Amino acid sequence: MSNNNITFIGGGNMATSLINGLIADGYEKQRITVSDPDAEKLAQLAARCGVHTQSDNNSAISNAEVVVLAVKPQVLKSVAQDLAAAIQQVKPLVISIAAGVKESSLRNWLGGEVALVRSMPNTPAMIQSGATGLHAGPGVSEAQRNQAESILRAVGLTRWVEEESMMDAVTAVSGSGPAYFFLIMEAIESSARQMGLDEDTARLLTLQTALGAARMALESSDSPAVLRQKVTSPGGTTERALDILEEGKIRTLIDMALHGAQERSVELSEMLGEQ
Ligand SMILES: NC(=O)c1ccc[n+]([C@@H]2O[C@H](COP(=O)([O-])OP(=O)(O)OC[C@H]3O[C@@H](n4cnc5c(N)ncnc54)[C@H](OP(=O)(O)O)[C@@H]3O)[C@@H](O)[C@H]2O)c1
Repeated sequence: MSNNNITFIGGGNMATSLINGLIADGYEKQRITVSDPDAEKLAQLAARCGVHTQSDNNSAISNAEVVVLAVKPQVLKSVAQDLAAAIQQVKPLVISIAAGVKESSLRNWLGGEVALVRSMPNTPAMIQSGATGLHAGPGVSEAQRNQAESILRAVGLTRWVEEESMMDAVTAVSGSGPAYFFLIMEAIESSARQMGLDEDTARLLTLQTALGAARMALESSDSPAVLRQKVTSPGGTTERALDILEEGKIRTLIDMALHGAQERSVELSEMLGEQ
């Protein structure tokens, strides 16, 4: 990865995960600057990660080739508007990780023309196991695309989408996705307890099974559908359980849930744009 100067605006959870991932990947820490209003947070980041810190966003981006906007979506408008003049002067690649904020809103707040990549990471990025959707706006060069991808890849897998509207689908699938799997784990663990397994055994068997199934699906050349068929013997226990799930219309429910999340993502983007 080429070591450009990167400035993170906001030094919270996601910025810290990205910084840890970048440093673990060999990124030069002296190329990284973080700006945040919380002096204590900055002191911790400087001590733990060895990065430069700043309490003033505009000064923090004066030498930046890449600016990562890592503040909450609700404060992004005022943060971006305050940075607009400096962004127009310095002309860095801007990467937004803010959920639901459309490129048109952000471009507007940043004063017009800007090389902008919008990304949607998810919570497992905290343990470098994230899944991130990326979309490049007009004017983003191939080198800038690669740069954005390598930054987000520091916390897990990345996939580009060609249409920005697909970011609502990404939000429904991987953004909100960890919670769906947590719910399923919660339900399996609860049944395991009801069947008499002790708490630790119920939890560990459930979690290791989820991890094992995900790893197998990722590492296998077979699709999840084929893997499912392979582990379902006719007349066996798995078949009985799957029949009950199918009769309960699990696929329809999941489809409705994901479309609900996608619709909500569209609604929230509109609200954030109008704020
Ligand atoms: N966490 C996730 O799993 C996840 C997943 C996908 C996308 N994201 C996106 O990532 C972004 C950051 O989320 P997060 O979970 O890292 O939030 P966070 O921990 O609250 O981090 C945001 C940081 O920005 C700081 N901040 C507030 N106002 C600022 C300003 N004017 N200038 C500079 N910094 C300012 C906050 O300081 P104070 O705490 O003092 O306000 C906080 O340290 C959000 O837009 C979110 O949508 C997060």
